Amino acid sequence: MNVEDYILSHTDAEPEYLAKVNRATHLKLINPRMLSGHLQGRVLSMFCKMIQPHNILELGTFTGYSALCMAESLPENGILHTIECDDELEDFIKQNFSASEYNDKIKLHIGDALQVIDKLDITFDFVFIDADKREYLAYYEAVLPKLRSGGFILADNTLWDGKVLQKVENNDKQTIEIMRFNDFVSSDNRVEKVMLPLRDGLTIIRKK
Ligand SMILES: C[S@@+](CC[C@H](N)C(=O)[O-])C[C@H]1O[C@@H](n2cnc3c(N)ncnc32)[C@H](O)[C@@H]1O
Repeated sequence: MNVEDYILSHTDAEPEYLAKVNRATHLKLINPRMLSGHLQGRVLSMFCKMIQPHNILELGTFTGYSALCMAESLPENGILHTIECDDELEDFIKQNFSASEYNDKIKLHIGDALQVIDKLDITFDFVFIDADKREYLAYYEAVLPKLRSGGFILADNTLWDGKVLQKVENNDKQTIEIMRFNDFVSSDNRVEKVMLPLRDGLTIIRKK
């Protein structure tokens, strides 16, 4: 048994409806690795149970897996806004949301994250950044004013397959921008931060 299997065997099982989303994503889409998956999904769910947010914002829905994990803890009047730019995913995402008990608590926005954020006049308690890696810093600056003091941002893929530690090619915009985001956040006094080596790197940011 490897360490990942050991961790999973001592973590809550993936709920059946999420396992179905996971399987269907692997069957139907070419890049299923983008989905958060069992361990990170349980971590997102647990963080939301700890923080108890009313308003959650997600950038990068993909097939809806992480949105569903975060929605698990939403109270009666809580809502999760999730933004996805790929309109070809819309039907699949909606199918996955309606097969869950959280459909009424999730609002899907199809469009470019930065444009949609600009139009949302909402104060968020929790933001999950997981869309275009080249835009992480722009996302951060766009969501920080909409985050309440004491609220949290989680940024996914901040280790970017270890590429942040290696020599970067000039044309590797994703790695360059993830590194720029990491460097900026680490010296930003408006927030507290800790980077976790979970999966592909998960940075937790708390607005002061
Ligand atoms: C890593 S996947 C998200 C995975 C999902 N959060 C999960 O954990 O299951 C990134 C998603 O962001 C979307 N995306 C990329 N650029 C975007 C943009 N500018 N605005 C909104 N969504 C974007 C992609 O189409 C893709 O579906």
